[in-house]
Amino acid sequence: MNLDLERLPRHVAIIMDGNGRWARQRVRNRVFGHRKGVETVRTIMTCCTDVGIPFLTLYAFSEENWNRPGKEVKALWQLLERYLASELPELIKNRVRLRHIGDDKNIPPHILTRLLAVENETAHLDALTLCLALNYGGRQEIARAARLFAADVKNDVCSADQLTAERFSRYLYSSDTPDPDLVIRTGGEIRVSNFLLWQIAYAELYFTEVFWPDFGKVHFLEALAEFQKRERRFGRTGEQVKKGGRPAHGGPSAADVSLTGSGSR
Ligand code: IPE
Ligand code: IPE
Ligand code: MG
Repeated sequence: MNLDLERLPRHVAIIMDGNGRWARQRVRNRVFGHRKGVETVRTIMTCCTDVGIPFLTLYAFSEENWNRPGKEVKALWQLLERYLASELPELIKNRVRLRHIGDDKNIPPHILTRLLAVENETAHLDALTLCLALNYGGRQEIARAARLFAADVKNDVCSADQLTAERFSRYLYSSDTPDPDLVIRTGGEIRVSNFLLWQIAYAELYFTEVFWPDFGKVHFLEALAEFQKRERRFGRTGEQVKKGGRPAHGGPSAADVSLTGSGSR
């Protein structure tokens, strides 16, 4: 497989799906699949540090996942708790900074405390930022950003007519993170399930039938190879893109493009 290390996505975001079906195929309970899924997290994290991808976001628990049976929900949070308890040396060894996005409100308090402690202890590490989407929903994130913006308007920090896409994105959870260039969904479903709705506006989408517990280094490299075959036009024509060469990380994100003012077109 030929990979151009100069044209890797800067940010890969993954909808880790298929744990339950993977377990069912083996006549085991769903939690068995989730446990195996944690091993895949380690594999893909290492792939990112090996090839030099600086941002990886993993969808670990959606706000909608509270609708699952109580036992499964409890097991998912317990797995996270165990991951946080055991993973610190591995994160430090690989120079991985851990972060999270999502609504802290319903995260079990003892897990949130541990999560924040690990974030703190890895804050200086710089090979990879591993962001876990926990109790996360894309629409909820956008609604929260709108609330924060409204509060700033009310407090005279800015006025409503100053709102641009670039300014709005600063109210999102990870305003200091580049938008994902590549979104991978394992498990065969072709949907985004409320994941990073704002940030994936121009991401390349990659869907695979492979269940998350089976998703390995080879599958990840295949996704990267497919990403490199795509022509990211950002509204331009193919001819324009060829003339200008391809941008190293896929070109401007919404945050880089401002079409305000009459002189810009
Ligand atoms: C994804 O696997 C893991 C989480 C949502 C936490 P699923 O549990 O959704 O697996 P399937 O889709 O039922 O196979
Ligand atoms: C999306 O997977 C959420 C996570 C991967 C955490 P789901 O399995 O919950 O998605 P839907 O409900 O089938 O769309
Ligand atoms: Mg699923």
